Amino acid sequence: MTFQAGLFDGKVAFISGGGTGIGAGIARGLGRLGARVAIASRKPEHIEPAAAGLTAELGHEVLGLTMDLRDRNATARAVDATLARFGRIDVLVNNGGGQFLSPAAAIRHNGFDAVIQTNLVGTWNLTRAVADATMLQHGGAILNITMLTNVFPGMAHSVAARAGVEAMTRTLAVEWAAAGIRLNCLAPGYVNSSGLRNYPPDSGLIESMVSRVPLKRLATVAEIADFATFLLSPAATYCTGQTYVVDGGKSLWGDTWPIPDPGELTRPPIPREPWES
Ligand SMILES: NC(=O)c1ccc[n+]([C@@H]2O[C@H](COP(=O)([O-])OP(=O)(O)OC[C@H]3O[C@@H](n4cnc5c(N)ncnc54)[C@H](OP(=O)(O)O)[C@@H]3O)[C@@H](O)[C@H]2O)c1
Repeated sequence: MTFQAGLFDGKVAFISGGGTGIGAGIARGLGRLGARVAIASRKPEHIEPAAAGLTAELGHEVLGLTMDLRDRNATARAVDATLARFGRIDVLVNNGGGQFLSPAAAIRHNGFDAVIQTNLVGTWNLTRAVADATMLQHGGAILNITMLTNVFPGMAHSVAARAGVEAMTRTLAVEWAAAGIRLNCLAPGYVNSSGLRNYPPDSGLIESMVSRVPLKRLATVAEIADFATFLLSPAATYCTGQTYVVDGGKSLWGDTWPIPDPGELTRPPIPREPWES
């Protein structure tokens, strides 16, 4: 194990989108280190097997809750249910979110609004619910999972929402420092997670992603979860208001320095959780 056993003993973590992919990886990582964990998203078919699977894996209860980030009352209810069960929330991971790939000119207005509502307004809804209910009184650590926000053709809606989250994070880090709340963003590059199933399987998209990363591979969920764990841990208590890019060097690299592909570029299988068939 990379981190000291028991590092999160006595802590409670709330993870949006914790039933799949990166969120489930972070739930597993924090839970293995002793945190009591609540995971929440819209679909019972994501949350229920994940809560049961993680509970079995970890040997202690993982609380599964259904909640749509766009529904302010539902986010507050999920936070209240976590406080009723575990008594506190020390860690919030705003990981839930998503988008669809489309040229900007083909994004319909309601599609743009839905992506902003989920990724920007949803992050605000859950952050305020946790802050109001507990963190403004007791402090805590908040991590927002964003994306590479310099430029992202095909995702004008999501890149706008995530850049908004990053600016909000910097601002709240200043406003809430006195309350003992640290906030940061983790911006992954390309991660081999369930989220990749949303993109056309035979388009060559994933192979072209791999080719554009100097390390010539996708990140694993565990690599993102480990970095998230570090940012939420006592090792990062002087880190606040920043966006940490974890992208295998992708955002550094242009076309002026060719890096040969390692033979044929293959598409790695997208991992499944133990509870998925
Ligand atoms: N994979 C990558 O390469 C990559 C790169 C950069 C950033 N990211 C971001 O990292 C996060 C996790 O991605 P992932 O790869 O693990 O994909 P994923 O499996 O699709 O995870 C997205 C999670 O968000 C939840 N969610 C979506 N809309 C929601 C809503 N309105 N309310 C509550 N929960 C909602 C989903 O659960 P329900 O469907 O049950 O609601 C799901 O658990 C996402 O924000 C994603 O955009 C991923």
